[in-house]
Amino acid sequence: MSIQDKQIEALVERRAKARLGGGPKRIEAQHAKGKLTARERLALLLDEGSFEEFDMFVQHRCTNFGMDASHPDGDGVVTGQGTIDGRLVFVYAQDFTVNGGSLSKTMSEKICKVMDTAVKVGAPVIGLNDSGGARIQEGIDALAGYGEIFERNILCSGVIPQISLIMGPCAGGAVYSPALTDFTLMVDKTSYMFLTGPAVVKSVTGEVVDQEQLGGARIHASKSGVAHFAADNEQDAIAKIKCLLSYLPQNNLGTAPLRPTSDPISRVDDALNTIIPDNPNKAYDMYAVIRSVVDDGDFFEVHKDFARNIIVGFAHVNGRSVGVVANQPGVLAGVLDINASRKGARFVRFCDAFNIPLLTLVDVPGFLCGTQQEYGAVITNGAKLLYAYGEATVPKVTVTLRKSYGGAHIVMSCKQLRGDINYAWPSANIAVMGADGAVGVLYGKEIKAEEDPEKQAAIIEQKKQEYNDLFCNPYQAAQKGYIEDVIEPRNTRFRVARAFEVLEGKRQEIPAKKHDNIPL
Ligand code: HXC
Repeated sequence: MSIQDKQIEALVERRAKARLGGGPKRIEAQHAKGKLTARERLALLLDEGSFEEFDMFVQHRCTNFGMDASHPDGDGVVTGQGTIDGRLVFVYAQDFTVNGGSLSKTMSEKICKVMDTAVKVGAPVIGLNDSGGARIQEGIDALAGYGEIFERNILCSGVIPQISLIMGPCAGGAVYSPALTDFTLMVDKTSYMFLTGPAVVKSVTGEVVDQEQLGGARIHASKSGVAHFAADNEQDAIAKIKCLLSYLPQNNLGTAPLRPTSDPISRVDDALNTIIPDNPNKAYDMYAVIRSVVDDGDFFEVHKDFARNIIVGFAHVNGRSVGVVANQPGVLAGVLDINASRKGARFVRFCDAFNIPLLTLVDVPGFLCGTQQEYGAVITNGAKLLYAYGEATVPKVTVTLRKSYGGAHIVMSCKQLRGDINYAWPSANIAVMGADGAVGVLYGKEIKAEEDPEKQAAIIEQKKQEYNDLFCNPYQAAQKGYIEDVIEPRNTRFRVARAFEVLEGKRQEIPAKKHDNIPL
């Protein structure tokens, strides 16, 4: 064997050892917990044979607490690049089999290198998190490592899509990296996120709560909104992320890939002509409207179980990726509250940052009132959604289906927030408020003065009728040019698709500034 042959053999052996991470026993333990290893996850995520690893031989530099006895190649994270459906992505996967995936300074350097390269070439970063947090033996060095990752999360924000998969523990300050990224997905039962675990919670506040209830996938996907998606298992998680990526561009200078469709834009849907119930207090299925308008009925929902009174997600219209925002009359009558506003605002801002046009379907009775909402700053939170729509320069097409009242009318991508093409169905009510409220304010005294209940009811009815005739229709808005047209519901797909086609070359600027000051 020549010297060179021996050198190559040594390389192959060293690589094989590095690929085993913490070794067979720890891999077995990982599997026993129902979890895949970092490399198995990357193999599922990336196109076969596309993974190219960075820094496989990087080792930690810690000498405290006996750490110098072991220097596994690669340390506790696998990093590199690969492709998903042929498109370049950068990845890092924390390896729980090496010191519980705990973050050393060298691990942070590996992760930062991936992020720096991704932003340099303009490709998404996907982080697979499964870690015991800061490597305790490294002390402040590990914290510095987190700080460097967070800074890069911030600098990459709005430049390249950043996606976090939580596939194991993610606790303490470590949660802030996912929180700074665009989308967070958690795997049910095997992942959790919290600032302090159940034991600390109990000692500090006396509250008894388990890991799952405190920071499991279902909790964060439904109650806190920290997670945009919850997956049933790791395979499902990876399938969801691949699907999400198919709607996104590589970076803020690009556009999302076209998805050719055989679904004609001229497809009419008669069902939409009968979908609005006669009774304005009755709900209908907003999902049916969304599916009817978009290509092939395919809708990829974001934040599905959080603030369900608003629906947000991605779809294609005539092959182009669009972000859909729709009030959901079936949940809290589609009212805007703190969480719905936060959810909508974050989504609108993501779409705007990444050149994804916005389709807004409106049926909103207003903002939720009451002390709980006011004390929770519904004003500031509602302003987030208003701000997000108002600053967005991507093509904005809005269709008002039914109610569009008061401040909520303005917030939901109205004309004055630089909505580009605003349509309404004949069933639309674009007004300051509904008839019940308006009549009470305008004729309250007159109504109270009438002592005969029958006559009182007749006055209310008559005034409501007058108000409805005048305001509760789309024609006031149409007469004043606040909407472009009143359209037949069955033609919505065609009108929306053509509007987006017209707007494809849209260019709009916002005044130069250091950065905005969105009401956080
Ligand atoms: C060093 C760690 C570690 C850590 C785990 N390990 N977490 N080593 N630093 N943070 C090691 C364990 O010692 C163990 O090594 C191996 O990883 C596997 O861990 P186990 O405990 O055996 O696994 P499991 O039972 O599944 O428990 C996982 C765990 C637990 C729940 C994550 O390990 C744990 O509670 N770790 C500490 C979590 C924590 O408090 N981290 C600091 C958070 S604060 P051996 O060799 O014995 O097998 C933080 C600050 C960030 O992260 C601030 C950013 C600004």
